[in-house]
Amino acid sequence: MALKLGFARVFCALLSLLVSFPRAHNAKIFNVRNYGAITDGRTDNRKAFLKAWNEACNQKGISTVYIPKGVYMLGTVEFSGPCKGPITFLMTGDLMAPTGPSFGTEKWIAFRYVNKLIVKGGGTLDGQGASAWPFNDCDKNTNCKSLPISIRFDFVTNSRIKYIRSVNSKNAHITLFACKKVNVSKIELSAPADSPNTDGIKIGSSTDIRISSSKISTGDDCIAILSGSTNIDISYVYCGPGHGISVGSLGKFRGEDNVKGLVVRRCTFSGTDNGVRIKTWESPWRSTASNFIFEDIFMDKVRNPIIVDQTYCPHTPCNQRTASHVQIEDVTYRNIWGTSSSQIAVSMQCSKNFPCKNIVMKDINLANLGREGPLKSWCSYVNGRVYGRQNPPPCF
Ligand SMILES: *[C@@H]1O[C@H](CO)[C@@H](O)[C@H](O)[C@H]1NC(C)=O
Repeated sequence: MALKLGFARVFCALLSLLVSFPRAHNAKIFNVRNYGAITDGRTDNRKAFLKAWNEACNQKGISTVYIPKGVYMLGTVEFSGPCKGPITFLMTGDLMAPTGPSFGTEKWIAFRYVNKLIVKGGGTLDGQGASAWPFNDCDKNTNCKSLPISIRFDFVTNSRIKYIRSVNSKNAHITLFACKKVNVSKIELSAPADSPNTDGIKIGSSTDIRISSSKISTGDDCIAILSGSTNIDISYVYCGPGHGISVGSLGKFRGEDNVKGLVVRRCTFSGTDNGVRIKTWESPWRSTASNFIFEDIFMDKVRNPIIVDQTYCPHTPCNQRTASHVQIEDVTYRNIWGTSSSQIAVSMQCSKNFPCKNIVMKDINLANLGREGPLKSWCSYVNGRVYGRQNPPPCF
């Protein structure tokens, strides 16, 4: 991967020479070094970064905040718009978070209210998660304090995030909240398989989001699609290790918005707990999760390749007083193959009160890795149709 990124950098450099150079007189460059940023590995550079950002943001026309090669210590920082023109955050250098849990802030780096933002450059965000994970007690404590997300995008529109790397986030690597028309590509996210809550990308209340050609290896969900997300397209993403691509969890809170329109295609899951998952809590909060297509997906030693869990409860206590009120409908699984590391390769536990509607399965071809005998599928309250090849044999 290092070699690949190396090529990518050279390719990018050539491309920017060819493409951007003739227009370079348009884009004004704001080099963080000219604002006092230093790479001594100790000094917090947030003031310098903010000054560069604010000047770039306030100038008319195209501007670039440029982070030259080097490792920059950076405290919690928020890059806010609206800006007067398109803005690029060209991260050639690497950014390093403070060590420790940094409680009391929900993010390390945030971009907010920016239109036409490009974040790129081949640099790495190092969240220094190992110094914070021991403080995560969310599996035991329902009122746990959460650790900061490495990079948040809130109210960001018409934007691109590409060629960046994030390692060892304290919490999730990337979140997109209230974003519209954002393309994420050629990024690499990594944290150890046993690191807590290190989701790759979380998407909530966002529309027209494309994620492609990326590698996500982490301790929690590869990508999580949360309430209010519509028209999400995920392709050519490699997930593993981690918990797979999830819709949800949904139904935990009152007033959650629907999730509608998700395509996951041409993805690979390797050694993950789940492949494609939909998870909802048992609660009275109503919403719908609909119009999903999961297609052309390779499962390599995945524990639960296809799973719908409407009794989701990762740790007690859970609200068990009622069946889930999230209606799942119009979900197609097409051409999914590879290996399952558990015997139940397809598990669909839908809600008794709101059974799954119009679930379509076509050409599911999974093989068993274990010694437990032939693969099985296990369903409750599922309505739908099956076509083509089916291994395991269908249960609805
Ligand atoms: C995102 O990608 C789609 C498909 O390639 C493209 O049509 C769209 O213009 C892109 N959006 C941005 C903001 O780059």
